[in-house]
Amino acid sequence: MRVSLAKSTRSFSVAPDQPVLDAALDAGLNLPHSCKGGNCGACRARLLGGMVHYPNGRPLGLSDAEVAEGLILLCQARARTDLVIDTVEVSTPEDAIIKRLPSRIDRTERLSHDVLGVYLRLPAAEPFRFEPGQYIDILLSGGRRRSFSIASPPHDSRPLELHVRRVPGGELTEELFAERTRSSLLRIEGPLGRFVYRQNAGAPMLLVGGGTGLAPLKSIVRHVLDNGLRRDMILYWGVRSERDLYAHTELEDFSRRAANFRYVPVLSEPGAAWSGRRGWVHEAVLNDFATLDPFDVYASGPPAMITALRRDFRERGAADERLYFDSFDYAPDTLERQRTTAATKS
Ligand SMILES: Cc1cc2nc3c(=O)[nH]c(=O)nc-3n(C[C@H](O)[C@H](O)[C@H](O)COP(=O)(O)OP(=O)(O)OC[C@H]3O[C@@H](n4cnc5c(N)ncnc54)[C@H](O)[C@@H]3O)c2cc1C
Ligand code: FES
Repeated sequence: MRVSLAKSTRSFSVAPDQPVLDAALDAGLNLPHSCKGGNCGACRARLLGGMVHYPNGRPLGLSDAEVAEGLILLCQARARTDLVIDTVEVSTPEDAIIKRLPSRIDRTERLSHDVLGVYLRLPAAEPFRFEPGQYIDILLSGGRRRSFSIASPPHDSRPLELHVRRVPGGELTEELFAERTRSSLLRIEGPLGRFVYRQNAGAPMLLVGGGTGLAPLKSIVRHVLDNGLRRDMILYWGVRSERDLYAHTELEDFSRRAANFRYVPVLSEPGAAWSGRRGWVHEAVLNDFATLDPFDVYASGPPAMITALRRDFRERGAADERLYFDSFDYAPDTLERQRTTAATKS
């Protein structure tokens, strides 16, 4: 089958089971992309002719409204017929050029029983410009990669702060928790992603994080507070129990010193002494607001939280075009291996 690019004489062939993006890259076309996992939305294109399907279901990075508009995600879409597509220009933040750089682990710090602060030193002579909320990929062998959000704000990013949750059986995170990685060299690529702070004077911001989903939100909060921006922010941070509140003191400190920042920790399995909010973090938000229409919503964390939040927040009036999210999925190679394992078992 052939895929033609509108407004261009270029075209390329694609196999029925091949992601359209892979075929385009194989053909030497430099189409915008980032995660290749259907999450970030960077590979969005408009389908002007033909039909596509998604073998793993509609990807998270594509909203109902976008489907209705005729947008597709090239990294997940498979062609059913010849296609005509118009690639949507990715609004790359000014100066945020994607680079591959060597970095050194400057230090690590145990933030909790399963979260490690990893501080990466980048080459001093190399500018690394990013927007609050973006992430980097740590490059592994064989073209594989692992994504981590940048927790530091752009104005205070040397070293670059990451919050890494240990994934049992995880190739990279288990390795990072081993003390021997200190001073190791890592190759990174970034900045990546469209989950970035948007200027929208006057609109209050609702930030919802699950676990290490706090990382990009912390970058955004510090960006707003340290630069004296006039934005009201409420951060709901959901974790399982008290021992998972790895940034509690710091966040309480932010809310003490800034009148425009409020912090609400929500525990799903608290101890008996916990007097704060209980339950799922997105449900705590729904309990507190009759409508979410006034807010710019920024949500990041586990895929299940993002899926539930996107569904329920829209019903509660959150505007689709002001609901920004980052879903902390596993890497595409891991998801593929998990699918293969599940398929062989069934
Ligand atoms: C945009 C983005 C930003 C992110 N930001 C952060 C962040 O700031 N902090 C953070 O902690 N996380 C973040 N994540 C999630 C993070 O990328 C993953 O947790 C990380 O990639 C795990 O890497 P790993 O090598 O340790 O695990 P992997 O090796 O990828 O393994 C993951 C899990 O899959 C299992 N697995 C592997 N192979 C198989 C198989 N064949 N069958 C069954 N199970 C299998 C493993 O046992 C393990 O439990 C982010 C993700 C995205 C997409
Ligand atoms: S590259 Fe397709 S959604 Fe990220």
